[in-house]
Amino acid sequence: MGKVIAIANQKGGVGKTTTAINLAASLAATEHPTLIIDIDPQANCTSGTGLDPRNVANSTYEVLIGDVAIDEAVRQTNIPFLDILPSHINLVGAEIEMIDVMERERILKNALIHARRKYDFVVIDCPPSLGLLTLNSLTAANSVLIPVQAEYFALEGLGQLLNTIKIVRQHLNPELEIEGVLMTMFDTRLRLSNQVAQEVRRYFGDKVFRTIVQRNVRIAEAPSFGKPVLFYDATSIGARNYIALAKEILRNNQRYLRQYEEVQEEASSPVKPNGQNDSVSPSSTPANGFTF
Ligand SMILES: Nc1ncnc2c1ncn2[C@@H]1O[C@H](COP(=O)(O)OP(=O)(O)OP(=O)(O)O)[C@@H](O)[C@H]1O
Ligand SMILES: [Mg+2]
Repeated sequence: MGKVIAIANQKGGVGKTTTAINLAASLAATEHPTLIIDIDPQANCTSGTGLDPRNVANSTYEVLIGDVAIDEAVRQTNIPFLDILPSHINLVGAEIEMIDVMERERILKNALIHARRKYDFVVIDCPPSLGLLTLNSLTAANSVLIPVQAEYFALEGLGQLLNTIKIVRQHLNPELEIEGVLMTMFDTRLRLSNQVAQEVRRYFGDKVFRTIVQRNVRIAEAPSFGKPVLFYDATSIGARNYIALAKEILRNNQRYLRQYEEVQEEASSPVKPNGQNDSVSPSSTPANGFTF
């Protein structure tokens, strides 16, 4: 069972999509099979990984309203080990169409039951709201990653998000953890950025990732080429920041990945004739030359 991480913050433009794309690509670069779920009608994750949302036949929308199975909608990206469940503008209507459905908050969780077995990580890019799409994501997730922009009012609205997480834990998903709080768009030249980082650390303590994502123009340019920053400019600060984040998350999840591999090994026995199995060790050297 892959670990499902929802990237959520109802505040707009804080770096959710950027983090979903670049974290997922960095995890995939270490040969961890990873699925991105784009559950935002803006479909920025979909275009940012090289797909044209207008040409997507089956999307998260069709999966949520029960028209197709998730496997029929998931597409491979150009990046090895990275698949995507694309979004479409139709998703705008999904919240209303789902209102009469039984257990409407659990639709994504149920859709993922089998699909997540193929992946080590599933990263969900949530829309900037706390509506039914985000609730479905938090219900399907093992953990939530909260990007916080290093700006004035950074903490504004976070109380509401934490309250939603609490309610989801009480009623829908008791296991939901906070994967971490990520400082984004950090400007090393500004005292303000440092002040905000201090304030966020005071509020969230050791839940704040050590990795900080700096403001970097390469990160902003990469989506217009349909590429994660790692595949647009691998030496940029932005690429290095997101690789560091993936490393930190892999370190924090060593136990989870070990348990998951053991389950996979049991399921795939008897061992193949050459003694190999399909599971990938977290410490394996990636074929594409990226070393972590
Ligand atoms: N570290 C960064 N450096 C420079 N630009 C960035 C960085 N992170 C994000 N951006 C830019 O900031 C804008 C908002 O980022 P993004 O789309 O990831 O936010 P979001 O939280 O997903 O927004 P929304 O709430 O609309 O979904 C984008 O134009 C993105 O390219
Ligand atoms: Mg977004």
